[in-house]
Amino acid sequence: MKTYDIFLEYYDKIVRSINNPLEDEVEFLIEDCIVEYKPETKTILETACGTWEVARELIKKKYKVTGLDVSEKMLKKAEYNLNKKDLVLADMTDFNLDKTFDVVLCNYNSICHLLKWEEWQNFFKMSLKHLEKDWLLIFDINTLYEFDSITSDFAQFYNFWNDTVCLEMHKKDWIYEWLVKIFKKSPNLTSSEGEEEKSYELIEEVVRENSFPINKIRKELKEQWFKTLEIVDYHYGEVTAQSERVYFICTKK
Ligand SMILES: C[S@@+](CC[C@H](N)C(=O)[O-])C[C@H]1O[C@@H](n2cnc3c(N)ncnc32)[C@H](O)[C@@H]1O
Repeated sequence: MKTYDIFLEYYDKIVRSINNPLEDEVEFLIEDCIVEYKPETKTILETACGTWEVARELIKKKYKVTGLDVSEKMLKKAEYNLNKKDLVLADMTDFNLDKTFDVVLCNYNSICHLLKWEEWQNFFKMSLKHLEKDWLLIFDINTLYEFDSITSDFAQFYNFWNDTVCLEMHKKDWIYEWLVKIFKKSPNLTSSEGEEEKSYELIEEVVRENSFPINKIRKELKEQWFKTLEIVDYHYGEVTAQSERVYFICTKK
């Protein structure tokens, strides 16, 4: 089944306008992560950049951003936001840009799209390769607590123009699957009695995610030569067993 194929038409609106205002997120990234720890930052590599909604805001603040994503369709949409030459089609677990950046960023639980632990380890290796000593890796996760809470009780509906998008989450063999059901309005049909009948096409896509315990991630970062500066709950600051979204801010040792 496809992933982010048709869903990407609705993705930014659901994620940013409804669930999570873009301005709050960008302010957090700039003020609480970059300015707090590396105010001299100039260049940012945004891995899994998606449609570049976040990068566009970072560029407005004068950062030089390179975007990398594995989805050609996402990058195509990103081109409307930014310059094609700053976009790289690549897998964040295996890439070589032959240069380093001040910050490697992986935002909005994008690392959770890597389903196997070895892929997380490889992403850390790639980040290390693209940073100089003392510069920053910033990424956030959806915690296992968050995924398990969503899985046990979740179905959300969003209406767009004539279409409806329904998001459900299911756990399958230790992987969390967003089942995205898109009810796309087709041209109205006319019944045999001459009445107009609404008709919809159902398109289903799946987005698979996974997460790992915070301590396991912290330990791996240490083993891979990162110093963790802060692990912070995006909503409440202090990380607890009920934290849903957690940011890791680290430097290369
Ligand atoms: C939840 S979206 C987040 C996009 C963006 N970071 C944001 O804040 O809006 C996840 C993105 O991760 C990308 N992605 C998934 N697996 C990837 C991989 N192995 N390498 C690079 N990008 C990947 C998807 O194509 C998608 O654009």
